[in-house]
Amino acid sequence: MSAAPQERDALKRAAAERAVQEIESGMVVGLGSGSTAAFAVAALAQRVAAGLRVATIPTSEHTAALAYRLGLPLTGFAEHRRIDVAIDGADQVERGTLNLIKGLGGALLREKIVAAASARFIVIVDDGKLADHLGGPTPLPVEIVRFGWQVALDRLAGLGCVPRLRQDGGEPFVTDNGNLIADCRFAAIADAAALEARLAAIAGVVESGLFVGMAPTVIVGGAAGVEVIER
Ligand code: A5P
Repeated sequence: MSAAPQERDALKRAAAERAVQEIESGMVVGLGSGSTAAFAVAALAQRVAAGLRVATIPTSEHTAALAYRLGLPLTGFAEHRRIDVAIDGADQVERGTLNLIKGLGGALLREKIVAAASARFIVIVDDGKLADHLGGPTPLPVEIVRFGWQVALDRLAGLGCVPRLRQDGGEPFVTDNGNLIADCRFAAIADAAALEARLAAIAGVVESGLFVGMAPTVIVGGAAGVEVIER
C-alpha cells in the first residue's frame, strides 16, 4: 500500500537531509527541482545559515526563487563551468541500473545540463519511486520545440509509445526554456540507452527525461530508514 502524502514527505525529507550532509564548504552545488529537491534546498539553507559557504546553480526558475528566498547564494555557468555536487529528485529509478525518468515537473533540460556538469550527481527519492523497469505507469517527459510539435508527436508515437502534449490549465505547458513537453507512455522501456539515442534523432526533440548511467548515487527514504545505493 502506498504511503500517505505526509509520510511520503517525511521519506523525501530524510533522503534530502542525508544528501545535504555530503556538501562541504567551498562547493558549487546544483539544486534540483520538484518537491524532494525542495527539501534539500531547505536543508542546505539551514546549513548555510549556520556558516557553510556554498554557491548554488538552480535547475529551474521555481528552485531559483526558493533558493533566493531562503538566502542561498546563487551563481551560474558564467562564473563556474563545473559543479561539485548536484542533488535532484527523480520520477522513477530502475533498481538494477539506477537509470532514471525525470521531468514530470518540467525541468528536465536544465536538470540534465546541471547533472552532466557535476562531478557528483546524487538522486534523492522516496521508495515509491523505485521500479524493476522504467516506463509503465510513469510517462517519459520529452521536451520539444513549439514549431512542428505535431510532427514530433507523430515521430514519438512511432517509437511505440502513446505521446500526449502536456497541458496546464487548458493551454500547452511551457517550460522555463520556452518549449513544450510530450509525456510519452511506454509499456516498458527495455533498452534505455537505445531509446535515448532514437529520441535524440527526432527533429524537434530538445531533450528527454531519460537519465542513463548518470546517477551513481541514489539515496532512498523508506519506512525502515535511509538507504544509500551506489552503482
Ligand atoms: C522535475 O522536472 C523532475 O525531474 C523532478 O525531479 C521529479 O519530477 C521529482 O519530483 P518530486 O520530487 O516532486 O516527485
